[in-house]
Amino acid sequence: MSTSDSRSTHQLRCIGCARTIAGEEAQSDFRCPHCGELYEVEYPWSLLREPDPGNTDARNFPNPSALRWLWQERRTSTKQCDQSGVWRFRDLLPILKHLEDPVTLREGNTPLYEMPRCAKSVGLETLLAKHQGMNPTGSFKDTGMTAALSVAAERGFEWVACASTGNTSAAMAAYAARAGMRSLVFIPDGKIAWGKLSQAMDYGALTVQLKTDFDGCVSLLTELIRRFPIYLLNSVNPYRLEGQKTPAFEMMEQLEWEVPDHIIVPGGNLANSSALGKGFAEMKHLGMIARVPKISIIQAQGADPLYRWFVNDDREMQPMRAETRASAIRIGNPASWKKAARVIEATVGWCEEVTEQQIALAKAEIGAEGIGCEPASAVTLAGLKKLVVAGRIEKQEKVILLLTGHTLKDPEYTIDYHRGVLLNETENAEANAEERATHLRLRKEPLVLEADVDVVLKRLDAEMKAAKQI
Ligand code: F0G
Repeated sequence: MSTSDSRSTHQLRCIGCARTIAGEEAQSDFRCPHCGELYEVEYPWSLLREPDPGNTDARNFPNPSALRWLWQERRTSTKQCDQSGVWRFRDLLPILKHLEDPVTLREGNTPLYEMPRCAKSVGLETLLAKHQGMNPTGSFKDTGMTAALSVAAERGFEWVACASTGNTSAAMAAYAARAGMRSLVFIPDGKIAWGKLSQAMDYGALTVQLKTDFDGCVSLLTELIRRFPIYLLNSVNPYRLEGQKTPAFEMMEQLEWEVPDHIIVPGGNLANSSALGKGFAEMKHLGMIARVPKISIIQAQGADPLYRWFVNDDREMQPMRAETRASAIRIGNPASWKKAARVIEATVGWCEEVTEQQIALAKAEIGAEGIGCEPASAVTLAGLKKLVVAGRIEKQEKVILLLTGHTLKDPEYTIDYHRGVLLNETENAEANAEERATHLRLRKEPLVLEADVDVVLKRLDAEMKAAKQI
């Protein structure tokens, strides 16, 4: 493909010095050679103001009503690109030469659930959860992976690679397998959940457990890509964010285009919050929505560099050594922090941190809704509680939690929680009386009983008596 070909559909703009390049011109680490910052994808319409009818620019400016109609129509189509909840919106992500032929597992199309019990416990009238864990490999990463891996396939790469806390590697391995490509995964040794590790192996990735943390894996991969022709699929790759912005479009469809007040997102490497912010900003730019929701980011207390930047009013974020049981977001030097910071500022969102005890409780509460999620996703509910208590969210506001991973990704965490061995004494002692009571109510330790119906009946009887007392 010639440079001019891809420039006619999109280009990459550096978020630091604003220089633009054609997609194919990006260096292997996706950093600007002039200032070292990341790129974002820009389209011909990104810079246009809505033109007067009759103006030649009008042809380049997507028509909001036509788009809404088209996206809806595609829901009944049997074409694989229409059945994907990412490529159904392809008009706003023309990053491929052959837009109707992506590498897809029919990602997206995830449910927006009502969370009545969580709403009550938080003190809101309603609460919704967009469950991105209901994607083909069980996490939100699929939406970004279909986009960036399709670009890699179209550009003729044989190998793709990522450093990961687990979900990116699972998604990348699956999509690479679909495309018949080779994939290389760097994961921190002993620091990722089994479900995710098993996926990378099952989908045929060359899986390397490095004796370091996620940030160390990123450093090593950055060195490797300079010496080996491999396409980097970490979220510094701006095409990932193009796929990850589509849940914003899908949410608006699910809400019949009524803009929610607030979206709460977990923060790790900080690409997802950036992508959602981009999706909403683009819809507003095109006149599809009149305003954007606030986007707030929640981090685990032991892995909270963005939160520290936020509360200390620092100019730059200070990397840290990260530690949390929510292993997906155990990240101390998030690559996309500047993009995420812009989203918080532009949407007037907030940044919070939550403790291990609060994460465990929130995860149990989401599980008790019959929904479940992985620990990293549960920071959203824990953070929401803090935002409500601080008066940053009012009780009638429409809030959406972005749940990023499926509960089966990390069953060990869940089992340890219900067996009462997850949290240590200090963490348990941090719970207030109300939290302690909720832990007690939700914790369902598995019972071992004699295989005798009378024994089971006796136990059920005790269970019913206990329930009456609550
Ligand atoms: N939730 C889950 C379940 C994740 O796997 C991740 C990130 C995040 C939240 C944070 O998203 O990085 O865009 O801020 N997981 C990455 C991985 C880093 O390698 O799977 P983010």
